[in-house]
Amino acid sequence: MPLQNDRLLRALARQPVDRTPVWMMRQAGRYLPEYRDIRGQAGSFMNLCRNAEQACEVTMQPLRRYSLDAAILFSDILTIPDAMDLGLYFETGEGPKFRKTVRSADDVAALRVPDAERDLDYVMNAVRTIRHELADSVPLIGFTGSPWTLATYMIEGGSSKDFRHAKALMYGDPAAMHALLDKLARSVTDYLNAQIRAGAQVVQIFDTWGGVLSTPAYREFSLAYMARIVEGLIREHEGRHVPVILFTKQGGQWLETIADSGADAVGLDWTTELSDARARVGDRVALQGNLDPNVLFASPQAIRDEVARILASYGSGPGHIFNLGHGVSQFTDPDHVAAFIDALHELSPRYHG
Ligand code: CP3
Repeated sequence: MPLQNDRLLRALARQPVDRTPVWMMRQAGRYLPEYRDIRGQAGSFMNLCRNAEQACEVTMQPLRRYSLDAAILFSDILTIPDAMDLGLYFETGEGPKFRKTVRSADDVAALRVPDAERDLDYVMNAVRTIRHELADSVPLIGFTGSPWTLATYMIEGGSSKDFRHAKALMYGDPAAMHALLDKLARSVTDYLNAQIRAGAQVVQIFDTWGGVLSTPAYREFSLAYMARIVEGLIREHEGRHVPVILFTKQGGQWLETIADSGADAVGLDWTTELSDARARVGDRVALQGNLDPNVLFASPQAIRDEVARILASYGSGPGHIFNLGHGVSQFTDPDHVAAFIDALHELSPRYHG
């Protein structure tokens, strides 16, 4: 079946569109009262992820409010370490935590590579349910964390500010770190391919913590594994190319090497100027971004001005996917998101056709 709205796929292929496509990282979530309702009924975040009907409902919620050009699977990047039996749990207000950590070569050796179809079947069920519900209205984006980003959570046992355990392993026992990243790269490749077979039409790799590395460490411990994943992905499904978006937060300084990774598009946070980024990558990749999510705390007029500035910075022609530079905050007013999307739909057509 042809997609009714294929703006995202066209922009990813750097083909002409009538207006700039848009979706938001973390577009489903706590800033929406209807999400908080169903999250309360589910009892826990992971219960929500494991229930295909509820995960589907939550995926659809932002699409009912706003004219977005894509849906994103409702799940989390930490499903893989959870399937490796590290015991993921969420402490209210404290973010994710693991009962077991991975801190030595022996810990790494003991880890098994999950079988995505079997161990993460609840994710594939959610993908199939969402695709059915979308009925080819907009494409569905599947996703994963990068091996480096997943490794930081597994080694630290949760979120971190300084990544001291992860960096201690990386600098102190690089062979053990490579063994861990190798297992994660194999797990992620299998996981994304299972999502693609289940119906994900685009995939994004979230490298949330790649930007905390030095330039050589980024290449060796993060980018190299993402490039390997891209190489191992199913690149055509349902008769269509399956594009890959690579998002390294704070990765703007490495844009050229990221663009050489084999990805179709590079996601940018707000610290990299789009005009600059475009000049640097030419027509090698599409670019996604990059409104500072905190702009949404300002007035609708200020939001509109910033949307206008970003559109002008990218300039005319195809290859831009509008997004935030990171996930939408839970404290965002849903009406301000509406102001953002409305401004974009009003202002972007002049940059096309
Ligand atoms: O984008 C979407 O709408 C799809 C759903 C999605 C979630 N997490 C749902 C979620 C996606 C794409 C993610 C990715 C994710 N998860 C990342 C990478 C993107 C980024 O923000 O950098 C990371 C680092 C995580 C790990 C994670 N999961 C954290 C740190 C937390 C707790 C803190 C927080 O920001 O909420 C989660 C939990 C989580 N994942 C929630 C949601 C809606 C909130 C849980 C709840 O409802 O109680």
